[in-house]
Parts: sequence; structure tokens; C-alpha cells
Amino acid sequence: MSLLEVREVTIRFRDATQGAGSALRTAVDRVSLTLDRGTSLGLVGESGSGKTTLGKALLRLLPIDGGEILFEGQSLAGLRGGDLKRFRRRAQMIFQDPMGALDPRQTVGSALDEVLAVHRLIPRERRPARIAELLGQVGLESRQATRYPHEFSGGQRQRVGIARALALEPELLIADEPVSALDVSVQAQILNLLADLQAQLGFACLFIAHDLAVVRYLCPRVAVMCRGQIVESGTTETVFSSPQHPYTAQLLAAVPDVQAALEEGRARRG
Ligand SMILES: Nc1ncnc2c1ncn2[C@@H]1O[C@H](COP(=O)(O)OP(=O)(O)OP(=O)(O)O)[C@@H](O)[C@H]1O
Ligand SMILES: [Mg+2]
Repeated sequence: MSLLEVREVTIRFRDATQGAGSALRTAVDRVSLTLDRGTSLGLVGESGSGKTTLGKALLRLLPIDGGEILFEGQSLAGLRGGDLKRFRRRAQMIFQDPMGALDPRQTVGSALDEVLAVHRLIPRERRPARIAELLGQVGLESRQATRYPHEFSGGQRQRVGIARALALEPELLIADEPVSALDVSVQAQILNLLADLQAQLGFACLFIAHDLAVVRYLCPRVAVMCRGQIVESGTTETVFSSPQHPYTAQLLAAVPDVQAALEEGRARRG
């Protein structure tokens, strides 16, 4: 059984430009995909193609208008109470702007403590050690727990966002453009970190990005989204070497410098 199975999911929004009672716009149009445990799937497509909308629906942060989303074979639509809370622990998201998930008035340590406390995974007295461990896992120092989000660089802040998402040992991580706001050299560091953490912790990852170069590094499989539909999917290798859809070929032209930075980083790490 796949960890995540998406069957013909459709999501519509009312088009605000058309006034009340107006037409619905289809943001996600009969999308199907599967994600197996511990694997990564890249989801690429231009701005407005529906990637974030789909990602949010996969975490049940948005309702769907058609189709079905199954997590370990169980429909998300039916989850209530304790089951929904357990699902919320098992599936996490990281965002382009980690500030969105962090409270500016809360130290990073206290933000992580709160996450651990809500889900009662670890007794209070063991939480400081767990927080130190989490910060270490994302390449930060435990003494940085006393700092506030604005006291970190963009790359460090994304590390905090990753620590927060991984605090509950999720089985599914949805990474929505987690590096697109960062400098190219920092992008490579964060992507390398995600790859290392995935190898170590074994979570499955849906990696959302504009460009294929970033996805190529992390994801053996990729799906290409265009105007709400998946127009092409397959192994990243195949999609890269012989794109079947003209839209995919267009996306392939993007950001060769990220690729170069990644390869350099990889070579350095051996
Ligand atoms: N809450 C909303 N209300 C109305 N329309 C919305 C809402 N959220 C998204 N949309 C519309 O749905 C479509 C898909 O948006 P979405 O944010 O999923 O695209 P995206 O692929 O993530 O784009 P980007 O690469 O810019 O992040 C867009 O046309 C957008 O305007
Ligand atoms: Mg988006």
C-alpha cells in the first residue's frame, strides 16, 4: 500500500474577480498520484499551476471538491478527533517563507517545545535534549534555541522550519518551494540537508518547485503540473532526457547554476 494515494482530486475556487455567485475556477483538475514510504516525488509547474493548493489539500488544510486522498489507505475526508490529530503529526509541511510558520515573538527553542508539547510525544523533562538534538540535525547549535526567528539568516531560518517539521518524526513531508527564496549557494546547502535527513529519517517527501533542476537532485520521480493538471510524470531521468510535453521542455531551461552548486557541494561531501 502506498503511503499517499491521490485519486482524481479536483479543487475549485470562486473567482473573486467575477463578483458574488460567479463561476468557479478549477485550480486542481482531476490530479492522481502516489507516493510510497520513504520516497520523493517532485511536483513542478509554473506559478499558478495549482501546486500549493494540491499540497495543502494533501494535509487536509483545504477541502477538495472531487476525488479522494488516501493516507495509508484511509480517506482523509473521514478523519476526526484523535485520528485527525495523529494524521497532523504524521504529515508536515515546510514553506518557502519559514517565517510564516514561526511566531516572531517566540524563541526557536520555545517554538519547538510547543510542537513537542502539543503532541505529547516526549515528557517535559526530556524536551530540552530533544530540542538540542533537532537543532543539531539541521546543522544549528543548541545554544541558538534562545534566539528569535529574526536573528537567523534566511538559510538558518529554513533550517529551523525543517527542524519544526521534523520534530514529530513525520512520515510525509510536503516541501513547498523550500529553497526558492534563498541564494543559490544556500539553496544547495538546504537541499543537501534535506537529502541527508531523508536518508537518515526515512520520511516520504513531496517536493514542490518551479524548476526541474532542483527536483532532479532530490527526487527519482517527478510530476509536471500545468493549469491544474498533471501533464507528464515518470522517472526524473526519463522526463529530463525526453520530455513528452512542450510545457516540460520549457521548464527544463531553468536555473543551471543551482545544479552546478549542488554538484560542487556533493563532490565536497564525497
Ligand atoms: N484561496 C484561494 N482563493 C481563490 N483562488 C485561489 C486561492 N488559492 C489559490 N487560488 C488560485 O488557484 C490557482 C493555483 O494557485 P496555487 O497557489 O496552487 O499555484 P502554485 O502552483 O502554487 O503557484 P506558485 O508557483 O506561484 O506558488 C491560482 O489561479 C490561484 O489564483
Ligand atoms: Mg505555490
